[in-house]
Amino acid sequence: MNTILVINLAFSDLREYINFMRSKKKIIEIQDEVDPILEIAEISRRATYNKLPPLLFKNVKGYPGWSVITNIYYSIEAFYDLFGTNNLEEITKSFLENMMGSLPLSFSSKIRNLFDILKLGKILPKNKKPLFKENEELNFEKIPALKTWPKDAGRYLTFSIVITKDPDTNVHNLSVYRVQLLNEKEAIVHWQALKRGALTSFKYKEKGITKIPVAIVNGVDPILAFVAASPVPPGLDKYLFAGILRNEGVDVHELDNGILVPSHAETVFEGYVDIEDSRLEGPFGDHLGYYTPPDYYPVFKLEKAYSRDNPIFHATSVGKPPLEDAWIGKAVERLFLPFIKMLIPEVVDMNLPEYGLFTGIGIFSIKKRYPGQAKKTMMSIWGLGQLSLLKMLIIVDSDVNVHDLNQVLYAITTTVNPSRDIVIIDNIITDSLDHTTPFPPLGSKIGIDATRKFKEELGRDWPEEVSSDESVVKRITPIWEKIKTQYLP
Ligand SMILES: Cc1cc2nc3c(=O)[nH]c(=O)nc-3n(C[C@H](O)[C@H](O)[C@H](O)COP(=O)(O)O)c2cc1C
Repeated sequence: MNTILVINLAFSDLREYINFMRSKKKIIEIQDEVDPILEIAEISRRATYNKLPPLLFKNVKGYPGWSVITNIYYSIEAFYDLFGTNNLEEITKSFLENMMGSLPLSFSSKIRNLFDILKLGKILPKNKKPLFKENEELNFEKIPALKTWPKDAGRYLTFSIVITKDPDTNVHNLSVYRVQLLNEKEAIVHWQALKRGALTSFKYKEKGITKIPVAIVNGVDPILAFVAASPVPPGLDKYLFAGILRNEGVDVHELDNGILVPSHAETVFEGYVDIEDSRLEGPFGDHLGYYTPPDYYPVFKLEKAYSRDNPIFHATSVGKPPLEDAWIGKAVERLFLPFIKMLIPEVVDMNLPEYGLFTGIGIFSIKKRYPGQAKKTMMSIWGLGQLSLLKMLIIVDSDVNVHDLNQVLYAITTTVNPSRDIVIIDNIITDSLDHTTPFPPLGSKIGIDATRKFKEELGRDWPEEVSSDESVVKRITPIWEKIKTQYLP
């Protein structure tokens, strides 16, 4: 039986995380007065580009009693601190192996399986009295939401979590969608068509329900906030997935509208999304480094607000890469690789490069065993959850290191015959922020089969690759070692 990799004790809330980072001298506390209009975002982006640790703004212009934290996900290192390991892949890999390993093979292993299932109780969400209280003074104008770029349509919640509940299964979804504040009680929720929030809203609509219960929460344990930004497959409760990653269930509290929210959240907005009231959202300077043109999205209507004393507001600014979303994407890549390998077994590794913007370019290596397999893999990837948003897909053989872009270029140059190895698909779902397409969310995709070709694919044998003569290697090694010591650093 494999054991699940035990991560750091989960942080019980954002405050415990801040104290932990303080103890490691990895937080920058800013006493100067800073304006949430453009200034916090400007400083935060500079900090992320320089891979500085999180910033805690303690003197926020116009919002006494509040502090603002940004830059929690300042580089991939941030995740090593959060999870207490730099082998992120191992966390989900060992979880999956444990699940698979506990499939009953004999009577005795069946009992062990039951025992393991009982252990799973630890990662389930638990009801707990909230640390926040109802706050009648609080509304969208009283929260230090940022304006991040000069031509943004207004102030936005940029790292708040929109929580919905599936009307059939009660499965909860927590997602980071940007939210444009309109006035004290209204805000536009930017959930893209393919995302779980929008999918849930379609279900309510089919039932004739147009006012969907929703909570928008801010300031939670950074692992939970990360899970909210992760592409957890619909059907799997994100509280449960967070429990798996935290190795500890999330404490939750049920609001009057039936939505479960983290008991430790700094602020909570309870209300509903009115799908019959869509308004123009944007422009907003997005993660492509461009302003997304305005488009229609539904409006959230606030009914009740809650907060903790001296609340901490969590925010970010996106823009040209690599900013926080880039490092979140890298962590997603590592943590979800074991799931992808389970679903598409030929996949060996993947790289969603920071500058490829995660939905722009994906490089996958495969163990190729039969002709046509690379194109088949492309179809599997484009059919899998949010990977379906990938605009450009490059498939290479398993001996190519996908993280070394020079190796990838070499593979493309030496294996691709464009007329045979390039697939273009038109009018298919793509990232709705992609301004290059005339009718988003429809766009086109390109797949490049950069694997060595079988005879059936090439029409003749693949040529032999150069390799050194073993006896020559043996003879020259001492001479080469001498040269190396003298001339190489
Ligand atoms: C800072 C940040 C802002 C984001 N903004 C949006 C957004 O406005 N709309 C959206 O659909 N996804 C946005 N995302 C991506 C989603 O959080 C991500 O796709 C996540 O998996 C939620 O999808 P799901 O609801 O299907 O789980 C954002 C991610 C980050 C890190």
